[in-house]
Amino acid sequence: MEEVDVTLRVDGEEHRLTVDTRTTLLDALRERLGNTSPKKGCDHGQCGACTILLDGRRVNSCLALAVAYEGSDITTADGLAENGELHPMQRAFIEHDGFQCGYCTPGQIVSAVGMLDEVEAGWPSHVTGDVSAEEITLSDAEIRERMSGNLCRCGAYANIVPAIREITEERARR
Ligand code: FES
Ligand code: FES
Repeated sequence: MEEVDVTLRVDGEEHRLTVDTRTTLLDALRERLGNTSPKKGCDHGQCGACTILLDGRRVNSCLALAVAYEGSDITTADGLAENGELHPMQRAFIEHDGFQCGYCTPGQIVSAVGMLDEVEAGWPSHVTGDVSAEEITLSDAEIRERMSGNLCRCGAYANIVPAIREITEERARR
């Protein structure tokens, strides 16, 4: 076993840790820093419950090694709220009742936030009809496809999609 020092910047705060080089970011966050908002569902990159933003991009933290992310900006669902105000995506999930047990919810919300930035950057998805179009229309089919890496065992998809759609419509009105 080899241990190394690493500084992780999580939700705006720096933490100095000594970790086994095999420690995943998910375990470092949950077991070492006490940040339990990313959840361990499968621990194999299959469910999305552990989704975080790494320098703004969504990533399954169970597949990332903590030592590789020295200096990166790590955002968890905990860090989305600012000055005591919920992030609009968090508010929309509550208003649309986009969860049942809530286990997948932090990952869903973080993933949705990252997904909207991907759309704004013009990244097409598997169901995008015209990949050369200047703007991507975020239909429900697009939302479902782009969120397909986040599974919900309670099957709350019928309310998750409208929650995300509300935020896309708010953004479009700006
Ligand atoms: S716990 Fe990471 S994808 Fe399931
Ligand atoms: S709300 Fe229970 S797993 Fe999604």
